[in-house]
Amino acid sequence: MGNTARKKINSVQSEQSTIEFVEELKRQWLETIDAIPDPFIMINDSYIITKANAAMAEIADSSIKDIVGKSCYKVFAGRSSPCENCQMAKSKPGKTTPGYEIYNAKNDRWYEVATRKLQNESGQRGIVQIYRDRTDAKKLQNRLAQNEKLASIGQLAGGFAHEINNPLGGILVFSQMLLKEMNKESTHYQDVVEIESAAKRCKTIVENLLDFSRQRPVNPKLESCDLHLVIRNAVKFADLGHNKERGCEIKLKLNAKDNIFISDHNRLTQVFLNLCSNSFQAMSKGGILTVETSSDQNDKNRWFVAKVIDNGTGIKTEHLAKIFEPFFTTKEPGQGTGLGLSIVHGIIQDLGGTIDVSRNKVKGSTFTIRLPINTGVKRGASS
Ligand SMILES: Nc1ncnc2c1ncn2[C@@H]1O[C@H](COP(=O)(O)OP(=O)(O)OP(=O)(O)O)[C@@H](O)[C@H]1O
Ligand SMILES: [Mg+2]
Repeated sequence: MGNTARKKINSVQSEQSTIEFVEELKRQWLETIDAIPDPFIMINDSYIITKANAAMAEIADSSIKDIVGKSCYKVFAGRSSPCENCQMAKSKPGKTTPGYEIYNAKNDRWYEVATRKLQNESGQRGIVQIYRDRTDAKKLQNRLAQNEKLASIGQLAGGFAHEINNPLGGILVFSQMLLKEMNKESTHYQDVVEIESAAKRCKTIVENLLDFSRQRPVNPKLESCDLHLVIRNAVKFADLGHNKERGCEIKLKLNAKDNIFISDHNRLTQVFLNLCSNSFQAMSKGGILTVETSSDQNDKNRWFVAKVIDNGTGIKTEHLAKIFEPFFTTKEPGQGTGLGLSIVHGIIQDLGGTIDVSRNKVKGSTFTIRLPINTGVKRGASS
């Protein structure tokens, strides 16, 4: 073989190994960005996605090859023009602009987006964005803010309920005394019956308010409660009271291993009864009520987790922050007092647990309750 031929072979071999080297680098780079759990994306200055990792494809509910080459605003926001808060113009080369928050309706999660401007040697511009999932932190923040707000509303409501409780008791007792002494034929008998029933309605509202504000002057019974039995009973009551005409299907998936809880049976029943009643009421044309339980463990506690899931009307995003407030209701006047969920919130807080609500991906709502199984909380003792 002559020198020229050998040189040619060497050059082909070196070209091949360069290609293999570049291919290997590319493979490593793609594998690395796919291994990053945070969604990652590169966009050119025409808003076209040039690279994305697996996590990004997942939150776009698509595949990498289906999003690359498309405009970012179309893929992520379903828009036909760039988003108002687009960071393309705002970001600076060599500097990562820390996060603005975006909500991804496809997976119901919040992300903080960090952006960095890119500029290659040929002057081509674009940005790289890294998304960080902030949903859990945001939930915690919202829960703390909500608890604070509810605590001050609770104080106000509790004070009001306390003050009104005694005069109301008087109206009730005196109207009942009158009824005993009055002749049923008297023209005013029916008026006094109305007074008694209105006073009873007010008394229930006052008691519910005291429950919500955790100022009810009763000592709850502390007993060993089987939470699965509590749930079965509550579902049965709610079914009898609210599901006769609706005919919703009921699915119970009670898989928690730790389901014994020291508390007041009636108060626990009230929690699940209120949640299931709301679910049935949200499924006026039928649907499925699912109650699931599971056990969860973190560093300090073992938790009993219960999810009440329905595929009813769902809760509007702007209502999510208000539904635990007393008297918030979307029902027709006379149909609901708007106290159900505020009572549930008060009881769960009293038990050292948490309650969260979320909108389901397709339809309906999910309420998630977490109760600490093995802590020293007072479990049901009113403060
Ligand atoms: N599962 C659900 N699906 C849809 N909306 C719900 C659901 N649960 C609660 N809501 C919304 O939250 C509001 C407040 O609920 P809450 O139980 O506190 O009061 P209410 O059901 O309206 O009245 P009450 O419980 O006193 O009869 C409801 O009016 C409804 O708009
Ligand atoms: Mg209700």
